[in-house]
Amino acid sequence: MNLKAVIFDLDGVITDTAHLHFRAWRTVAGEAGIDIDETFNAGLKGISRMESLRRILCHGGKENAFDNEQQQALAQRKNTLYVQSLASLTRDALLPGIRQLLHDIRLANVKTGLASVSLNAPRILSALDMGAAFDFCADAAQIARSKPDPAIFLAACQGLGVRPQEAIGIEDAQAGIDAINAAGMLSVGIGDDLRHADLQLSSTTELTWRCLSGFWVDKHQPDRAR
Ligand code: G6P
Ligand code: MG
Repeated sequence: MNLKAVIFDLDGVITDTAHLHFRAWRTVAGEAGIDIDETFNAGLKGISRMESLRRILCHGGKENAFDNEQQQALAQRKNTLYVQSLASLTRDALLPGIRQLLHDIRLANVKTGLASVSLNAPRILSALDMGAAFDFCADAAQIARSKPDPAIFLAACQGLGVRPQEAIGIEDAQAGIDAINAAGMLSVGIGDDLRHADLQLSSTTELTWRCLSGFWVDKHQPDRAR
């Protein structure tokens, strides 16, 4: 089987915005009387805005302290702070190797997709000057279930016109790896603390076309099916 598409997560794979999400959540959580640290924040990677808020409130024992309208206001406040912090993002904020990788994937006639649950993805791509870098970007606003549900990766496959079995997904979050695996794609994990990734790399500097294409061939050798 030929590789037809490579589908990327955004935050932590294309650019590193996790610390910006953390700073905004820490401020909002603090205002609600809840303390969160980097370790807790790591568990929010790949998790949608409202689900992140729900987890923060649970963490602080305040899951029933805010009604729906107040929760919407907290999420809105977080997003305002986060969007303000995105002003610091320029095309230099692409993670190492990503521009070259996207170029090489195109040269190999393989499609590229984006599967981020961030409603700010279009804004971030435009700040990075990457608005035209992907053949298809799944629309987070159309996806009801956050990762680890496979919905966003399946939507990206559908938009690209490929079957999940013909695609590789790349993620930095455990919820994302679980989503890729549940979609039936091959998973590549970026970072050190991920479980069940089919290929594990410590950073995007190792993420080259040579590495990805070699990985695909290894997984699809005829003797693997015997
Ligand atoms: C990504 C990030 C999460 C964030 C989510 C929603 O998956 O890893 O930390 O909560 O996007 O982002 P948004 O920009 O819509 O609040
Ligand atoms: Mg991510």
